[in-house]
Amino acid sequence: MKTVGVFDSGVGGLSVLRALLAELPGVRFVYVADSAHAPYGERTVAEITERSESITAWLRSTHHIDALVVACNTATALAIDSLRATHPDLPIVGVEPALKPAAATSQTRHIGVLATRGTLNSERFARLRTQLESTASSPVHFICQPCDGLADAIERGDLQTQQALCERYVQALRNQAPGDMDTVVLGCTHYPFAADVLAQLLGPDVALVDTGTAVARRTRDVLNVSDPTNTNATSPMLFSTGDPAALSQAAERWLGLRTRAEKLAA
Ligand code: DGL
Repeated sequence: MKTVGVFDSGVGGLSVLRALLAELPGVRFVYVADSAHAPYGERTVAEITERSESITAWLRSTHHIDALVVACNTATALAIDSLRATHPDLPIVGVEPALKPAAATSQTRHIGVLATRGTLNSERFARLRTQLESTASSPVHFICQPCDGLADAIERGDLQTQQALCERYVQALRNQAPGDMDTVVLGCTHYPFAADVLAQLLGPDVALVDTGTAVARRTRDVLNVSDPTNTNATSPMLFSTGDPAALSQAAERWLGLRTRAEKLAA
């Protein structure tokens, strides 16, 4: 049986784990929530690289993982090149905001992007955006909104702050949009857990796009298992550098998992 490590700054990567479990039931997953250091979105490149390296080293030495999923847009944007250089023998799958699928389906060609400041300010994101703006079949316009504090509010389960920040950022998108937006990209793995609030504020004519399923399919290809469903399903192992009880509760609430998370002192 293959083992895959998955990590995020906190509980947000559970939105990716949900897709991984659906796509690869015969794989063992070890999930690390770096909640003691969340949020990553307003941290420096050096801090995020150090955290990503430390978690990856622990996953390799303790669980002998066959592949790693960086279930965090911010860590992918700022640290995946360094991780790949340090671990050339480990297949590493990252997540990045779903600009490409959004550009493929948007009719109005005005697409909102909600993500952390770290992701939106990164060179990796700038490259992706410029590439799509110059190659999309018809001109496409991305309206990017950094959402300071939103991942943190979701992390803490603070529904009131979550609602207030979603209202503020949806309004900010509308203020910047030169035309009708028909698509909004959820460019942080925490945001699918605020999708109901965002959908209500944006209305039924705006589609929300995230990357969970695409990342899970990419992981399946990278693992190179002929039939990933042909094994008994196992429960993922959950670890948190913060409060393990908060991770267990989030996993039960959002994924229906009844797994007890353990404390990780890394
Ligand atoms: N969930 C992460 C992301 O996809 C990080 C959010 C944060 O910690 O700021 O960007």
